Amino acid sequence: MNRTISVIVPTRNEGSNPHALTARVTSVCGEEDYEIIFVDASSDPRSLAVLSHLSQTVPGVRVLPQTSRSGLAGAVLEGVQAAKGEYLIVMDGDLQHPPELIPYLLDALRRGDDLCVGARAQVLPTSGFSSLLRARMSDSATHVAHWLLPGARKTPDPMSGYFACRASAIGDISDLRPVGFKILLEILCRRPALRVSMAPYGFGCRQEGVSKFSGRVFMQFGLHLARLFLLRKGARYAFVGALGAGVNVVVMQALLGAGIPALGASLGAGWAALVFNFLTNNGWTWSDIGSPRLPYWSRLLVYVLVALLGLGSTAFVMLSLRDLGILPILGQAVGIGVTSVWTFQAHKRLTFRPRVPRGTRSA
Ligand code: GDD
Ligand code: MN
Repeated sequence: MNRTISVIVPTRNEGSNPHALTARVTSVCGEEDYEIIFVDASSDPRSLAVLSHLSQTVPGVRVLPQTSRSGLAGAVLEGVQAAKGEYLIVMDGDLQHPPELIPYLLDALRRGDDLCVGARAQVLPTSGFSSLLRARMSDSATHVAHWLLPGARKTPDPMSGYFACRASAIGDISDLRPVGFKILLEILCRRPALRVSMAPYGFGCRQEGVSKFSGRVFMQFGLHLARLFLLRKGARYAFVGALGAGVNVVVMQALLGAGIPALGASLGAGWAALVFNFLTNNGWTWSDIGSPRLPYWSRLLVYVLVALLGLGSTAFVMLSLRDLGILPILGQAVGIGVTSVWTFQAHKRLTFRPRVPRGTRSA
């Protein structure tokens, strides 16, 4: 049977918290057609018993043992996959996310938003957090995410674990890569067209048990940010350029070691880096363009021509700045920056132009 609302709650050793949560969700959603799905990774027998009792006694409560080992984010996706509702609500199982916000989140979806974020409104610097350090870390993480990821800028609290969205707006989840805690960030970055709003709430205190945040989760967050940042073509292009410089130095060293004179080694290393950059940009940066307008060898040719013009443009900037009294090495760095910007545009519009222009492809 299809339901209107699926409340998805990841839990790990939450003791009796799910019991209190179910009571509060029930009192808030009483009139609605809803289900509560606990995606559980508990090892503690008492937590397991509480959930099993709930699923047997409260209609609409389901408990799914988590099958993947991909943490909180993976648990949420398992819940999304199992959900029968048109509207999905994702919230923690420790009552730090007040169920009383649910009607506001649903209102937003019913007004036409695709996703509504329960955004933590801070009253005190540490509100809801176990320490000032955690609160500060959370603030900094939000700043970094806002700075790096356009998707994160759609809401003041992209790190929130509390949100509602239309199931149809997320659609097929096979491209979502759950790591760590931040499933909302993943959705915001991989579904850039979503209409996003927010409903502020006060981040509560845990009812019982402890936070599962750890150094490992923090590391996962760093990797997650890097991966989402590298969804952007400009970021990939810059990253490939930096790797290419590494290839250049390594090949140069190898050629010198093989007894090749410096000029020959430098030119050889330059070509090796150029071919590496082409292959990586062709196979990774622009791998999603579908069928490119130019055939393979033409792409390589255009790539090389743009790169050669790039060498000239870098030198031109360096020489012009040197005339203004700026050190050549600094001028070269500025030249590389300027050149990267226009060569990126040239590759986007020429070398790796898709056969079907953007916007006319079906979603
Ligand atoms: N199934 C499953 N698997 N559940 C998990 C796992 C896991 O590996 N790790 C944690 N959980 C559950 C917890 O039991 C809890 O219900 C919820 O996920 C949140 O975990 P906490 O350990 O309480 O996280 P937090 O309070 O430090 O941070 C949470 O709230 C923040 C504010 O909304 C997370 O949701 C953060 O991502 C969020 O920023
Ligand atoms: Mn918590």
